[in-house]
Amino acid sequence: MSNGVRIVEVGPRDGLQNEQTSVSVEGRIVFIEALLAAGLHTIEVGAFVSPKAIPQMVGSDEVLRGVSHHADSEFHVLVPNEKGYEAARANGAKVIAVFGSASEGFSRANINCSVAESIERFKPVVARARADGVKVRGYISCVLGCPYDGEVKPKAVVDVAKVLWDLGCYEVSLGDTIGVGTPKKARELLRAVAGYVPMTHLAMHFHDTYGQALANLYAGMEEGARVIDSAAGGLGGCPYAPGATGNVATEDVVYMLEGLGAATGVDMTKLVQATNEISKLIDCSPVSRVATALNAKRRLANKRE
Ligand code: HMG
Ligand code: MG
Repeated sequence: MSNGVRIVEVGPRDGLQNEQTSVSVEGRIVFIEALLAAGLHTIEVGAFVSPKAIPQMVGSDEVLRGVSHHADSEFHVLVPNEKGYEAARANGAKVIAVFGSASEGFSRANINCSVAESIERFKPVVARARADGVKVRGYISCVLGCPYDGEVKPKAVVDVAKVLWDLGCYEVSLGDTIGVGTPKKARELLRAVAGYVPMTHLAMHFHDTYGQALANLYAGMEEGARVIDSAAGGLGGCPYAPGATGNVATEDVVYMLEGLGAATGVDMTKLVQATNEISKLIDCSPVSRVATALNAKRRLANKRE
């Protein structure tokens, strides 16, 4: 059930985009290098978005250029429009992510346009990327609920997923932006979307506001989904999703996967170190249960020595 699961680490982007304290370019590069050293290979490192919208992501160009590129590493950056695409491309992006919404309210708040207008914006971006040999991931936010519009029907998600897939996105990431989903809903949604996008090309991007993210992932894996977006330490949130908390924590995901017998290739000790370092920089304790437990265990062991 857990075979072939791939983790997309979104901490350096989703994790830091909503923090009060902006992490410097240098700090973000150190964080990404620590994640690479922990064995995470697919990492979302920044966003080429309006600096007025998300000042925390200013310097994503330097971050993308500054991280060490290995044969097995894949760095993703968010791109909302052609301006963002040109900047991403100029700085060597090989994988970009366009990001839309299943709900009108969030689309308007997040990217200042309707869902239909956002698709029109994505079209030239995806076309140019494909012509340039750049891979495009497609995000859909608010797949299980919207902070502005409330309930979101699976059909609204399916409609956007189908368009993103038909445009040529290699993977569609389903964002429970405000973390309101439960396993039953997550399962039904994945089944509905998998009627159009192969299950193996769907990613689960679940925020953990109501503590359901791991359970939702497990349900999704039972349905055959194999890609998990998570953030070290459980960092994350979106300034346009008020009240929502962070992404499911990478440590917690790794712990669950290893417990299911799946080798993740992630070194937990190094991952927790990466989390601890970034937590110091943003002056906030990690919310990851596993990081908290392992830190407590280490402190106890140190005391006994
Ligand atoms: P707009 O105001 O409608 O755009 O914003 P505009 O084209 O009228 O431009 C306004 C200003 O922004 C101009 O500058 C542009 O040059 C500049 P000014 O003349 O005022 O000085 N601008 C840009 N600057 C840098 N890079 C760009 C860019 N584009 C325009 N690419 C826009 C529309 C989409 C640009 C804006 O709303 C925006 O950047 N939004 C980004 C919001 C964002 O990043 N949100 C967080 C990520 S989404 C998320 O977290 C959810 C996710 O994790 C999944 C989930 O959890 O659900 C992915
Ligand atoms: Mg998110």
